[in-house]
Amino acid sequence: MDDLELLQRALARERAARKEAERLLEQKSLELYDRNRALETEVGERRRIEASLREYATALARSNAELEQFAYVASHDLQAPLRGIVGFSQLLGRRLQAQLGAALDSDCREYLQFIDDGARSLRNVINDLLEFSRAGLASDAIAALPLEIPLQRALAELGPVLRSTGTEVRFSALPSVMGEETQLAQLLRNLIDNAIKYVVPGVPPSIEIEASTKGVEVQVSVADNGIGISPEHRERVFQIFQRLHTSEEYPGTGVGLAICKKVVDRHGGRLWVESQEQGGSVFFFTLPAAL
Ligand SMILES: Nc1ncnc2c1ncn2[C@@H]1O[C@H](COP(=O)(O)OP(=O)(O)O)[C@@H](O)[C@H]1O
Ligand SMILES: [Mg+2]
Repeated sequence: MDDLELLQRALARERAARKEAERLLEQKSLELYDRNRALETEVGERRRIEASLREYATALARSNAELEQFAYVASHDLQAPLRGIVGFSQLLGRRLQAQLGAALDSDCREYLQFIDDGARSLRNVINDLLEFSRAGLASDAIAALPLEIPLQRALAELGPVLRSTGTEVRFSALPSVMGEETQLAQLLRNLIDNAIKYVVPGVPPSIEIEASTKGVEVQVSVADNGIGISPEHRERVFQIFQRLHTSEEYPGTGVGLAICKKVVDRHGGRLWVESQEQGGSVFFFTLPAAL
């Protein structure tokens, strides 16, 4: 083989190698182009999702605020006419009694009683709705707070009913949480109020409150010796106006636990209920531990 041939061969090899390199480069650029396109699509998709999430959050906040405003206005503006109904039906009763005395027939007395009962239960619903719409509204700022402060406040507010029912309340040392005093007192008052109310007839209520710090959270339990809640109702009871009993069996409006849920939600915690082996319920909630 002469030099020329050798050179030609070397050149041919080099050309082939260059061609192969170019082909590879083109293939890589195509791949890169495809990958870029996919990435662009993904980024666009993610932007769209983010935008719709933002829109959704704004709409949700607006509708929540509207709902709160509605509940507040409705319950607030319903109180005045209701006071009128109660006041005038009482006046009417007295006037009829004065005019007719014993001649006032029993039907009339019963009708007046119905008006009074109806107005009272309406007033309870309105008051609870008002409490619900105010619950969790930022009044004081959330700050480090010994849990015993709102607990003592709830117990003081429930003092008369605790005494009249002979309720025993036990609690050990309680940790501090990040919370708002008024709201946490409202939460504990509603849970204790239920523990006093949903009792087995003839058995005095007994309540045990415990709390333990688990990492960044404090878990609180309020246990009672009452009638308990069957598993299929354990989610439903936290919805507003959901009751498992008629008001003849146990009086109430079904707002208490919805208030509790709202307060715990606003504190970034969770609220749920379990049953005790020996009957009775345990309500659990978590709150951020004090910093
Ligand atoms: N400690 C409890 N033991 C048994 N049942 C309970 C208890 N707390 C709540 N419940 C059930 O959950 C329902 C909702 O409670 P709540 O929202 O406080 O409303 P209310 O007490 O006005 O009925 C109650 O009607 C009752 O059936
Ligand atoms: Mg209640």
